[in-house]
Amino acid sequence: MARLIKSVRGMRDLLPPETETWNSVESAVRDLFRLYGFQEIRTPVIEDLQLFQRSVGEETDIVFKEMFAWQDRGRAESEKGQWLALRPENTAGVVRAYIEHKLWERPGLQRFYYIGPQFRRERPQKGRYRQFYQIGAEVIGPPSAGSESPAVDAEVLEMLAALLDRLSIRGWTLQINSVGCADDRVRFNEALRAALKDVVHKMCVDCQRRAQTNPLRVFDCKVPEDQPIIEKLPKMTDYLDDKCKAHFAEVRKLLTAMEVHFVLNDRLVRGLDYYTRTAFEFTHGALGAQNAILGGGRYDGLSEALGGPAAPGIGFAIGEDRLIMTLQEAATSSVSAFDVYIAPLGPGMNVEAARLARELRRRSVTISLGDETFRLKKSLETASKIGARYALIVGENEIKSGQFALKNLGTGEQVSVPRENIAAKVKA
Ligand code: HAM
Repeated sequence: MARLIKSVRGMRDLLPPETETWNSVESAVRDLFRLYGFQEIRTPVIEDLQLFQRSVGEETDIVFKEMFAWQDRGRAESEKGQWLALRPENTAGVVRAYIEHKLWERPGLQRFYYIGPQFRRERPQKGRYRQFYQIGAEVIGPPSAGSESPAVDAEVLEMLAALLDRLSIRGWTLQINSVGCADDRVRFNEALRAALKDVVHKMCVDCQRRAQTNPLRVFDCKVPEDQPIIEKLPKMTDYLDDKCKAHFAEVRKLLTAMEVHFVLNDRLVRGLDYYTRTAFEFTHGALGAQNAILGGGRYDGLSEALGGPAAPGIGFAIGEDRLIMTLQEAATSSVSAFDVYIAPLGPGMNVEAARLARELRRRSVTISLGDETFRLKKSLETASKIGARYALIVGENEIKSGQFALKNLGTGEQVSVPRENIAAKVKA
C-alpha cells in the first residue's frame, strides 16, 4: 500500500461546517471595517527576507527562530538567488507596499485591512499553529495628515472593542502600554544594559545574547528561572519623554471618554522591534496559555527603516484561529446547508432533477441532488442525514402534471406544489 501523506506539522485543514464560522466572521469584519473607512489590501505571502529582518527585527524570536526562509535558485546554475521568506506577519508587507506604490501621494490617511495566512515555525499547540490566519488593519500616512495623532490610536482601539462586541465575544481584556519613541529607546536600552550587567550571567543563553545585541528583547524570555530577574529590570514607562507621556495620556483620556475599558501593563513591550509609543494586546480567558487574541501598536519609524518617507502608523492583527476558538460554542448550532434534497425517481429522472435544481438555485434555494438509482426510502434517509429541510420528489408523474411532492423533513408533512411555487414555499 502507498504511504499515507499527511498535512505538515503545525499546518491544518479547516473543514466545513467550521469554515462557515470563518466566513461569517470575515464578512462581519469587512462590514465593520467599511464603517471606519478601511479598504482591503492583499500583499504577497512571499517577501524578501530582509524586509522582516529590518522591520520585525533580527533579534526577535519571530525572525531569529521562527522564520520559514530559504535561498531561492539563481537564474543560472552557478548563481545564488535571493533570500526569501514566508511572511510571519503582514505589517511589514503593507508598509513595503505603501512605499513601493507611493501611497502617500493619495490624500489623507490610508486605512488598510487584510485577512490572510501567516507563517511561523513555532512549537504547535492549542491556539498556536505554523500556518495561522490574521485579520489585521493599518492606518498610515504623512505626519501632515495627522497620522501621529492619539485620536487615531483611540479610534483603532474603539473599533476593535466594537468588533469584539459585534461578534458577541465577551470577557476580553485590553492591556495597553507606551513603549516610547526612538530617543526614549536609546536611554532605556542604556539603563537595561547597566541593570543586566551584573545579573545576565545567571540568565539563559538567549538572554545573554539579547543583552549584547538588543536588550529590550530580554522581555520576550519565557524561561521560568529568568522571570524574577526580569521583574526587577527598569520599566519603559519611566523613560518616556514629555511628548510621549502626553501622547499616551491623551490616548487613555479618549479611551475613557469612549468607554473602552483598558488596564495599564507597564511590562508589555510586544515581540516585534518596530513598535513605538502605544502598544496593546487583547487577551481572552477562554484561550488558555495562548491567550492573546490580538496585538498591535504604533510604528512611527518603520517606513523610514524600510527606505520610505516619514509615515507614522498604527495597526493590529487579530489571530483569527484564536478568535474562532472563542466562538466555537456558538458555532456548533450550525444552520442546515441545504434547503432541498431533490430525489429523482426512476430512469431518465436525473435530467429532470438537474433542470429543476438549476431553476431553484437561480432563485437562491440551496439544493443537494440525489440519484435516479436510489429507492425513495434511501433518498429520504440521505436527505435527513445531510440535514436538508425538504425533500422534493421528481418522478414521471410529477413532470407530466407539473405538481411536485414536497416533504418537510422536520414535521413529516407532505404537500403537492406546482413547479413555479416551490421556491416560494421553501423560502416561506
Ligand atoms: P503579533 O502579536 O505577532 O502581531 O500577532 C498578532 C496575533 O496573531 C496574536 O495576538 C495571535 O492572536 C496571533 N498569532 C500569532 N502567532 C500565532 C500562531 N503561531 N498561531 C496562531 N495565532 C498566532 C503582529 O503580527 C503585528 N503585525 C500586529 C500589528 C499590526 N501591529 C501593528 N500592526
